[in-house]
Amino acid sequence: MTSRFSFELKATDGKARTGVISTPRGEIRTPAFMPVGTAATVKAMMPESVRATGADILLGNTYHLMLRPTAERIDRLGGLHKFMNWERPILTDSGGFQVMSLAGLRKLTEKGVTFQSHIDGSKHELTPERSMEIQKLLGSDIVMCFDECPALPADRDRIVESMRMSMRWAQRSKDAFGDRPGHALFGIQQGGLEQDFREESAKALRDIEFDGYAIGGLAVGEGQEAMFKVLDFAPDQLPVNKPRYLMGVGKPDDIVGAVKRGVDMMDCVLPSRSGRTGQVFTKRGVVNIKNARHADDPRPLDESVDSPARNYSRAYLHHVFRSNEMIAGMLLTWHNLRYFQDIMNEMRHAIAAGTFDAWEEEFHAMRALGDI
Ligand code: GUN
Repeated sequence: MTSRFSFELKATDGKARTGVISTPRGEIRTPAFMPVGTAATVKAMMPESVRATGADILLGNTYHLMLRPTAERIDRLGGLHKFMNWERPILTDSGGFQVMSLAGLRKLTEKGVTFQSHIDGSKHELTPERSMEIQKLLGSDIVMCFDECPALPADRDRIVESMRMSMRWAQRSKDAFGDRPGHALFGIQQGGLEQDFREESAKALRDIEFDGYAIGGLAVGEGQEAMFKVLDFAPDQLPVNKPRYLMGVGKPDDIVGAVKRGVDMMDCVLPSRSGRTGQVFTKRGVVNIKNARHADDPRPLDESVDSPARNYSRAYLHHVFRSNEMIAGMLLTWHNLRYFQDIMNEMRHAIAAGTFDAWEEEFHAMRALGDI
């Protein structure tokens, strides 16, 4: 096992790439999908089960953990990995993005952001320096720069101003992070949907030099077509020999389109959150288990997805979901996470074999057929 953080590109097919990120806590096969474990748990899943779905890495959140149970407490208890019983790599988001979407009464200045907790209204401050400190206390393997992301649509003036401040915060994040062998710091590109701002942001990040580069500020309401337009150029603006991480994406077809355009890592709450709301992802599209048409259906959801959910009928899953039984969220989350990891695994193999286009065609053709 390596003592350093490194990325090795193994094969490309068109713009799609497959490789391996090595960390002291294990390897991350790319393209990688990271399940979201916001509050030190992937909801409804044991860490062993998350691993069984094929996940190499989880995402945790500075914002949630600093409020409860606090980074200092997690540090006293031996760090986030030990606290949540997940020994493999963890990436932590830096907090600013979550403040903007979750916290009350926010105040943004050059120094950072002050806000009120969504849990108890208490007042807190996050700055690039404090975010680096918190992510260090958590013991995060991949630390994200502290950034700011305006809600879209926003005018060009607002987007460029915000992006330039995020780039100043990126430099402060790098200075505060220091030199931590075995741990990585990723920069986050901003710039909205504007190619010139995205290039200016990418150049600023390339000049500072990071271990990996995220594409931020997407999947914030712009729609898939607009997002893909940005992804047609944004990954090419980032270094070829470092991982590229698209933050907060997405639905299965978003993920496939992003990988096709050169993205290596992604995260999204969708498979776990949908598991708790009865939305199920299958090879043949989305199924809502709440729907009355499943009530007498003895067939499994999708036999091709290797999860405990396939040992149960649609009728049973429908029943436990409608009855608000916990097993519904557990089985559907497991199924969804496994399905997402299956897509990633298939894409890694297709890219290595040089058959990504054929794989993608089949992926879309199956979905076009609709549910069984
Ligand atoms: N999650 C989704 N998008 C973003 C972003 O632009 N910045 C950060 N820090 N997290 C995100």
